[in-house]
Amino acid sequence: MHTPQASQTPIDAARQAHRHFLNRYYGISRHFYDLTRKAFLFGRDSLLTELALDTTWRSLVEIGVGTGRNLRVLHHLRPDAKFGGIDASDQMLQHARTRCPWATFAHGFAEDVDYLAAFGQAPDRILFSYCLSMFQDPRTALEHARQQLAPFGKIAIVDFADLGGLPRIAQESLRRWLSLFHVTPLQTSLFDGLPHTLRFGPTRYYLCATLPRDDH
Ligand SMILES: C[S@@+](CC[C@H](N)C(=O)[O-])C[C@H]1O[C@@H](n2cnc3c(N)ncnc32)[C@H](O)[C@@H]1O
Repeated sequence: MHTPQASQTPIDAARQAHRHFLNRYYGISRHFYDLTRKAFLFGRDSLLTELALDTTWRSLVEIGVGTGRNLRVLHHLRPDAKFGGIDASDQMLQHARTRCPWATFAHGFAEDVDYLAAFGQAPDRILFSYCLSMFQDPRTALEHARQQLAPFGKIAIVDFADLGGLPRIAQESLRRWLSLFHVTPLQTSLFDGLPHTLRFGPTRYYLCATLPRDDH
């Protein structure tokens, strides 16, 4: 069990508990993660294709990079681009490092990671794929990422939406099941006051959002 140190702030203690949970959760499941997530992390591949077709960027960092699955798809489609990955789980990072030797990786928490120090430059794109729904403070993570983008940069997001098109009983069961893994589907209020475009997948199961760095 995780025991907070006496000198830790409440934020440090919560982060260390989260890191500990992630390492325990992904320690074994990372080996079959990609196979099982195909069945319910919808919308990822269409977002990756859209990203690859946009030739205005040359560098991309995925936050909550997981096994490196998305970076591998993107690298295949855009071998000329520079890629990086950041994750709060040491287990996932280790996995991604092995699978993507051409990318730069660093441990960090989305809410305050220094992208410049981790990646060596401000990225043109920051990708959040099914990870905001797992963060302790997704709004802070988004605001922080926006400030770390290169000029004219953008954030691309795919994640669980409010499930509003499903029957009530299915919504509740799915929410209960996701909460076992510390996942909370996103509400659109997360984007209030931030420039963004938004679209939903069928039954509002998932959403795709784009947030530009600049208000134009
Ligand atoms: C559901 S997985 C998604 C992985 C990958 N993006 C994908 O689409 O397959 C969520 C990832 O976010 C990471 N994560 C959770 N909380 C985090 C945080 N606060 N900062 C950075 N990464 C975090 C987890 O360790 C995990 O690798």
